[in-house]
Amino acid sequence: MAESILGTLSESIEEKKRKLAEKMEKQMLKRLHSSAYPMKELMAFYRCAQMEMETKFRVLDEQFSLTHDRNPIESISSRLKTLDHIYEKAKRKGIPLTVEAIENGIFDIAGVRVVCPFEKDIYMLRSSILSQDDITLVEERDYIKNPKESGYRSLHLILEIPIFLQKEKRMMKVEVQLRTMAMDQWASLEHRLMYKKDLPEDVREEMKKKLLECAALNRRLDEIMQDVKDTTDLYQEED
Ligand code: GTP
Ligand code: MG
Repeated sequence: MAESILGTLSESIEEKKRKLAEKMEKQMLKRLHSSAYPMKELMAFYRCAQMEMETKFRVLDEQFSLTHDRNPIESISSRLKTLDHIYEKAKRKGIPLTVEAIENGIFDIAGVRVVCPFEKDIYMLRSSILSQDDITLVEERDYIKNPKESGYRSLHLILEIPIFLQKEKRMMKVEVQLRTMAMDQWASLEHRLMYKKDLPEDVREEMKKKLLECAALNRRLDEIMQDVKDTTDLYQEED
């Protein structure tokens, strides 16, 4: 008799444990879903903003090529920061891990890189894009006029652009990096050579010096190329 009571008791305890575990699992999934979905949605919005921005530059390129018979854009590439990189940057900058804080504190989640043949193309594109009435300039860093210590040169713009969703318009920030082909060549190689390399301090310093020399050469290259273009343009044949 006592045995059968004990047996029923332990069965009902087991049943309760199972139900509790089931409930906890459901709650966990719900919590995971509720924090993951807004982030997934935000990333989709950034993808849209990136597409819009790319299209704007492609349109400018197309129109310029009609009137000037050459393209001011050599190539356009885009990238979205990965979630891991976003969380790492948020931690580094002391930004809370909420969707709102991330959106308001990290401006380079969507990035568009525009590579131009000549330095003047960069400033022409800058003024064209800034004159568009749906674009707002949030931040500008001119590393062409003021190169970084490493020798890095590019024009960085944080632009706000609207994306049009089913029922709303949403403003999104996109980082645009404008560079010449020479600036791009230097930045790509420097990144590949120096990023996350465990070099002894003296070797690192030596290599940094050499890369600074390369940056100066690339800068000179841009100057000469621009000069050749400006001069040859004076002799442009009239149609
Ligand atoms: P991040 O936290 O890295 O975004 O820095 P930041 O917000 O201070 O922006 P910054 O204006 O320094 O630009 C960062 C971006 O510019 C990087 O993600 C690179 O694409 C590029 N960049 C900046 N400095 C260098 C450099 O010395 N070498 C190379 N190769 N790229 C650089
Ligand atoms: Mg950045």
